Amino acid sequence: VTRTVRLLDYEITVDAGALDRVGAIARTVAPAHRYAIISDETVAPLYADRVRRTLGEAVLATIPAGEQFKTREHWADLSDALLAAGCGRDAVVIALGGGVVGDVAGFVAATFMRGIPFIQVPTTLLAMVDASVGGKTGVDTPHGKNLIGAFHQPRAVIIDPLVLESLPDAQRRAGLAEVVKHGAIADASHLADAVAVGGAFARGGHADDALAALIARSVEIKASVVSVDEREKGLRQVLNFGHTVGHAVEAASQYRLLHGEAIAIGMVAEARVGEVAGMTSPEVAGALESGLESIGLPTRIPAELGDTDVLFSYMHADKKARRGRLAFAVPHRIGEMAGAASGWAVEVDDATVRRVLAERWK
Ligand SMILES: NC(=O)c1ccc[n+]([C@@H]2O[C@H](COP(=O)([O-])OP(=O)(O)OC[C@H]3O[C@@H](n4cnc5c(N)ncnc54)[C@H](O)[C@@H]3O)[C@@H](O)[C@H]2O)c1
Ligand SMILES: [Zn+2]
Repeated sequence: VTRTVRLLDYEITVDAGALDRVGAIARTVAPAHRYAIISDETVAPLYADRVRRTLGEAVLATIPAGEQFKTREHWADLSDALLAAGCGRDAVVIALGGGVVGDVAGFVAATFMRGIPFIQVPTTLLAMVDASVGGKTGVDTPHGKNLIGAFHQPRAVIIDPLVLESLPDAQRRAGLAEVVKHGAIADASHLADAVAVGGAFARGGHADDALAALIARSVEIKASVVSVDEREKGLRQVLNFGHTVGHAVEAASQYRLLHGEAIAIGMVAEARVGEVAGMTSPEVAGALESGLESIGLPTRIPAELGDTDVLFSYMHADKKARRGRLAFAVPHRIGEMAGAASGWAVEVDDATVRRVLAERWK
């Protein structure tokens, strides 16, 4: 079954075996003199040859696998590799990998010769349902994550769920946190599917058609939000549910927690914040907590992360603190967001947030 999401300027294809159609799709949406596959050293040996065969001849440039390589230095190395291979204005980048590859390859494409087209071929669940859709590209700096970048929309997103068969279980669970988030903000039955279908996959199950349908629905939810608010001025903030606390937890762990693990903890905490602030109905936090736990994701802040003061300093340093007040995008009930009247993010006073965080430690 081929599923296509057409809510944005580019098509998102979800199809088992789509890896073998990258060339055909690329020649349609981004015909090029030269294709350059950008990947990482884990994904390239697994899938780059298959993609390359569909493109005819293509340049392959890689970075080592991992967040610590999403840097300006590797952006420069990749750009230089394309130049050395003779790529010009008529080249097209194929980003083949997880969110790290998608972000840095997208930024290479955004800046190479002042911008060349690129195509996202995400290979992690997180990149499929989140990072590859929406056009945010960039790199990390010693001052923080994602601080240098550009909006650059892909010409197509090509999702082959079968590549997830090689994805480690921890990465499967981490991606599911964003699927749960999409259910929480937009669709209660999607949340139930995330727990049932996603949970089975996270426990070593196969990338079957039910998983493909789950991915396609998640992509549709993200795309529908992004289509209304590409530049994150309003509605796109609902995608930040769980991320105000989540980013603080992630940073306080020195990035030992995976992003999805931190977001799982953050969603339950923020649902409680919303509840205490009178915006979120009381069953939301419990429903999220039991769903996330059945997937195998953490929902309590690990004791070794210090204390509530430490998390507060990270939260206030984050760009989502406006005018010194923390703002939260929280559901009103499962599948429906609160805060439409205030631009979807609601300011909550520190005392309330403190009280909630104090009860969320392990
Ligand atoms: N641009 C956006 O809108 C956006 C949104 C969310 C996240 N992000 C970014 O995404 C990044 C995280 O993405 P991620 O979780 O995909 O991390 P990642 O790209 O580091 O991938 C995780 C690990 O899985 C490996 N891997 C990838 N595909 C595989 C496969 N099919 N089989 C086996 N191993 C595979 C990778 O080599 C890596 O070691 C962060 O840098 C984050 O900032 C961006
Ligand atoms: Zn996230």
